[in-house]
Amino acid sequence: MKKSTGLLAVMALAAGMGLQAQTNEWVIQTKKLGAEIQPTMYGLFFEDINYAADGGLYAELVKNRSFEFPQSLMGWKSFGKVSVRDDGPFERNPHYVRLAYAGHPHKHTGLDNEGFFGIGVEKGKEYRFSVWARIPDGGKAGKIRVELINPSSMGERQAFAKANLTIDSKEWKKYQVILKSDVTDAKSVLRIFLDSPQTVDLEHISLFPTDTWKGHENGLRKDLAQALADLKPGVFRFPGGCIVEGTDLATRYDWKKSVGAVENRPLNENRWQYTFQHRFYPDYYQSYGLGFYEFFQLSEEIGAEPLPVLSCGLACQFQNPDAEAHVPVGELEGYIQDALDLIEFANGDTDTQWGKLRAEMGHPAPFNLKFIGIGNEQWGKEYPEHLEPFVAAIRKAHPEIKIVGSSGPDSEGKQFDYLWPEMKRLKADLVDEHFYRPESWFLSQGARYDNYDRKGPKVFAGEYACHGKGKKWNHYHASLLEAAFMTGLERNADIVHMATYAPLFAHVEGWQWRPDMIWYDNLNSVRTVSYYVQQLYATYKGTHVLPLMMDKKPVTGAEGQNGLFASAVYDKAKDEYIIKVANTSDKLQSLQMTFAGMKKQQSFSQGKCIKLTATDMDKDNTLDNPSAIVPHESEVEVGAQSLNVEIEPNTFAVYVLKK
Ligand code: AHR
Repeated sequence: MKKSTGLLAVMALAAGMGLQAQTNEWVIQTKKLGAEIQPTMYGLFFEDINYAADGGLYAELVKNRSFEFPQSLMGWKSFGKVSVRDDGPFERNPHYVRLAYAGHPHKHTGLDNEGFFGIGVEKGKEYRFSVWARIPDGGKAGKIRVELINPSSMGERQAFAKANLTIDSKEWKKYQVILKSDVTDAKSVLRIFLDSPQTVDLEHISLFPTDTWKGHENGLRKDLAQALADLKPGVFRFPGGCIVEGTDLATRYDWKKSVGAVENRPLNENRWQYTFQHRFYPDYYQSYGLGFYEFFQLSEEIGAEPLPVLSCGLACQFQNPDAEAHVPVGELEGYIQDALDLIEFANGDTDTQWGKLRAEMGHPAPFNLKFIGIGNEQWGKEYPEHLEPFVAAIRKAHPEIKIVGSSGPDSEGKQFDYLWPEMKRLKADLVDEHFYRPESWFLSQGARYDNYDRKGPKVFAGEYACHGKGKKWNHYHASLLEAAFMTGLERNADIVHMATYAPLFAHVEGWQWRPDMIWYDNLNSVRTVSYYVQQLYATYKGTHVLPLMMDKKPVTGAEGQNGLFASAVYDKAKDEYIIKVANTSDKLQSLQMTFAGMKKQQSFSQGKCIKLTATDMDKDNTLDNPSAIVPHESEVEVGAQSLNVEIEPNTFAVYVLKK
């Protein structure tokens, strides 16, 4: 009696600790190659939120470089005799500064720029300072001295990098010089001294690392762009989000203003400056330096299909309940022309107006655009009414382009139920769905797409992330549930053609929205667990879905399935079977997988498992500890035509088997 009580106690303890394995018998049908998985299946959604562009991916280090912020000197400190003028050389950016002699050899004229939360520089690296300048009075050359300084230094000198520039022309000209930093400093300041009695005019003052992604001069921050490439995305959606719509139409993202010479791209307001008053950033603007040319170029360089999204003539409907805020349906020609011109910019011959501009910007070959989104999170009958003339015009001129419509801001409900049939009526090729939802939603949606209408448009899960209830920040458990939910996307790859987590980027000192996939400060970045989930899906996406059943049912986290979610794919090119499993329970689970339909003489020769697991569900990677939770790869023992493994509680695993 005593003995059995002891045994029971041990068993209870083991179960409590999650040690007791539950057995799950699964069958994977290898003969039934299911839907083809689209190359676009897993991708990226970029929006300039959380200082994702200026101050983030776009490597420009100077804030308000063209003095076009409504407060002309925001981001700058001027000293001596500095005046702001507005008859500069760039039509769309007319402001510039005039630096005049301070009046005494011991006094100084000049400017400091604070950058974005400081200017991050690294020891041994080079930075290209460039400026448009002139000596307005002509005559003797003027001089400026450019410095990178550490304003809080206890050392003898604040400057740790210096260079001189001679301004020798009465006409506006571009000058540049390289500064080499011999320190690493996340919060340096750019200082410019007038170094001569001659007056000097300065415009478009810029500082970039020379070591940008792929070495482009108007380039991107290397670590951040590399993180995008490493995810192996199949599609790249840009430029947002809500910024596509604008708080008003005047401030919507206007792609035509984002191309051509950077000096002449006008400033745009960024709605995320003020959308949340409790996270208010008065200096958040869009320089458009990272514009549509750069987005297309980046898509190409990371191997992703570009997916631009344009305004449909509706300003943000959350912020504008009044009809007057939007373009009347009969007056949409300009907006429709923008969409047609964008297709020409991306794909047109170099003798077309917009194709020529693309070539002049450095890319004569077409970008091969295949998809275009019209409208972001729109709703109500005004959305289909606005979309319809776009669809007609695009179909007529470019039947080859696939059109992405929207199902509104909700993952289900009245608007969603109204918009899906409307998208079907308008023959949208894909419908964008958004869901920022809590744990319970993710746990209940494993079978979301199993019964979707197979004859309608395809699904683009365009923005999603698990927002933990009362825990709206990055943590392991949320990422695990995203992984679990994604098995349902994969199993339904015949209808789900694209999926992109959102938002992508966030500066630790400038965020408005959490969770996000990649965080950074001025020098370092960290990939969250959600990043690794996306990366695992994209890396092991396979080519075809395979049926995976437990008691003849798909494994969707349904009752009796022990908190398990699973999907199976075959990779034709590599002849590999890939099984993705999320164990959302706090129990160890034993998985017995039988691969039915393999030929008798066929057997598995090797297998590996890539796992994401953690004991603290509330933790994630941080800038201080970027590798706290990363995927770990190990070999697994394979049976001839089976795989028997155990998966730890709260674990996501990808099993890859080779014949
Ligand atoms: O991703 C943040 C915002 O969420 C997007 O701008 C918008 O589309 C959605 O509401």
